Amino acid sequence: MKVTVVGAGAVGASCAEYIAIKNFASEVVLLDIKEGFAEGKAMDLMQTASLNGFDTKLTGSTSDYSKTANSDIAVITSGIPRKPGMTREELIGINAGIVKSVAASLVEHSPNVILIVVSNPMDTMTYLAHQVTGLPKNRIIGMGGALDSARFKFRLAEALGAPISDVDGMVIGGHSDKGMVPLTRMATRNSVLVSEFLTEERLNQVKEDTKVGGATLTKLLGTSAWYAPGAAVSGLVQAIACDQKKIFPCSALLSGEYGLNDLCIGVPVVLGRNGIEKIVEIKLSDAEKAHLNESAAGVKKTNGLLNA
Ligand code: LAC
Repeated sequence: MKVTVVGAGAVGASCAEYIAIKNFASEVVLLDIKEGFAEGKAMDLMQTASLNGFDTKLTGSTSDYSKTANSDIAVITSGIPRKPGMTREELIGINAGIVKSVAASLVEHSPNVILIVVSNPMDTMTYLAHQVTGLPKNRIIGMGGALDSARFKFRLAEALGAPISDVDGMVIGGHSDKGMVPLTRMATRNSVLVSEFLTEERLNQVKEDTKVGGATLTKLLGTSAWYAPGAAVSGLVQAIACDQKKIFPCSALLSGEYGLNDLCIGVPVVLGRNGIEKIVEIKLSDAEKAHLNESAAGVKKTNGLLNA
């Protein structure tokens, strides 16, 4: 199993590190445009192998896509991250050009690759990757919901005073401050609905804290987060590489599912060796449906900027 990670910045390096530590891939190639940077990161990570007990071989490359040839999975993290006060949507001008050329170069060298898009605004960049590469729907996956759900579980555990392992919950919709739809109604603590433990007011606070999860960190760090994004990507990569058939909310190209068409947005999907093996349509309440439709309208508006 060969995995390429494009972009050796904080998110890309974190992806590579978590994938290596989990020890399921034979090879990870880290690629960046900054001379020597990916080579350096890969070498540094390789020198943790004996300490952390993994056999994954990490190599780096400066813009040489021939090194990524025949990758099974490729992760696109390239582009600029947001600064405090910025929305993910404001990155589109610079990131669209980068994602376009990266996606095309990856597919040129790995025609059978499954792409995971992380660059922001992520739902629109996932849609763009479809436009550029024409890959089948199952082979392009946007990473947002897995991260947003991890942040949701963190906030739920905090509100419940419970360990995170006791908590389950999912966030669907767009990967944006307004677009996220945390499904509080279905969230559970060890199979008991969280509404048994938390007031509506507290649950609404959890929802709001989840939606601004990325912005909160950007304000604290001065740039966007990397540990949880990297861990979330490694979870998706492992589910595909190990054919786990796990459900994650991911940005997928929809053709009628949830009544939505011609956009990529976060919905629950089954991930296995073929990428998105199934889009799972769960029954939403009227309020959740309305929120998802509103979120989709926001994503479509951002998609409109691609041709502006
Ligand atoms: C975040 C970025 C990766 O939410 O979108 O931290």
